[in-house]
Amino acid sequence: MATGAIALQFVDSEMKISRKILKFTEPLTYRRGWRRAQRSLFRVPLAPMLAHIDRERAREIQQRYMNSTAGYAKYANIEPWLQLNRERVQDLNLHRSSPKRVLDLGCGGGFFLFILKNLGHSVLGLDVERVPLFGELLELFEVPRLVYRINAFEPLPDLGEKLDWITAFSVNFNLYHPSKERWGTAEWDFLLHDLQARLAPGGKIFFGLNPLYNGGYHTPEIRDLFLSRGADVERERIFFENGVRL
Ligand SMILES: C[S@@+](CC[C@H](N)C(=O)[O-])C[C@H]1O[C@@H](n2cnc3c(N)ncnc32)[C@H](O)[C@@H]1O
Repeated sequence: MATGAIALQFVDSEMKISRKILKFTEPLTYRRGWRRAQRSLFRVPLAPMLAHIDRERAREIQQRYMNSTAGYAKYANIEPWLQLNRERVQDLNLHRSSPKRVLDLGCGGGFFLFILKNLGHSVLGLDVERVPLFGELLELFEVPRLVYRINAFEPLPDLGEKLDWITAFSVNFNLYHPSKERWGTAEWDFLLHDLQARLAPGGKIFFGLNPLYNGGYHTPEIRDLFLSRGADVERERIFFENGVRL
């Protein structure tokens, strides 16, 4: 190989290395990498949790939905969803936490709360009663659910006790029906005030947002609202570690 070509190759690989270093030092890439590393160092074992459920019933549910074309039928195969939710639990450090009271908005089949319950937390899901499969999974997991539809500008019902955590993953209660238009800042701010009123001192709120049609997760206005209310905003991850700043 000619000397010039070697020099060029060297410059090219040097650039690749510095790009990698730069990527690693970018906060978002760094945080994601750190979470991945943490998860792979220690994974909360699921087998002891699965030993508590009726495996025969789980198989029956899975088989019944195997050929279903419904979008939600994918949740009938529970293991991948439990693995995903184990990551959610670990990313929030709830596997290393003393027992907390956790409310999960739009809890779906209850995968996240099932893991938390097995880790000693006290859990309650909140969801509409639209998808029978979710009801079957919640029953299988013995996760309690409050049937309730979150509507813009309407406070949640009285839950009887203060909460340490309020979570919501793959959020879509912020869609108007049937237009599928998304909530604006006023709707979100109403919900944030309402949720804060339900938190115990030191309580935390976490939202995992669904992507918008343009691939982003929030408009600049909603991002600014979350930030001004004290959230840490990392793409789809909105975390009010110290509750909502009012
Ligand atoms: C994409 S699923 C996510 C389920 C679960 N959080 C998960 O990540 O596996 C969204 C959930 O939000 C619920 N949901 C949608 N609109 C809602 C509303 N207005 N009030 C309460 N739950 C709602 C749906 O029924 C569904 O269970």
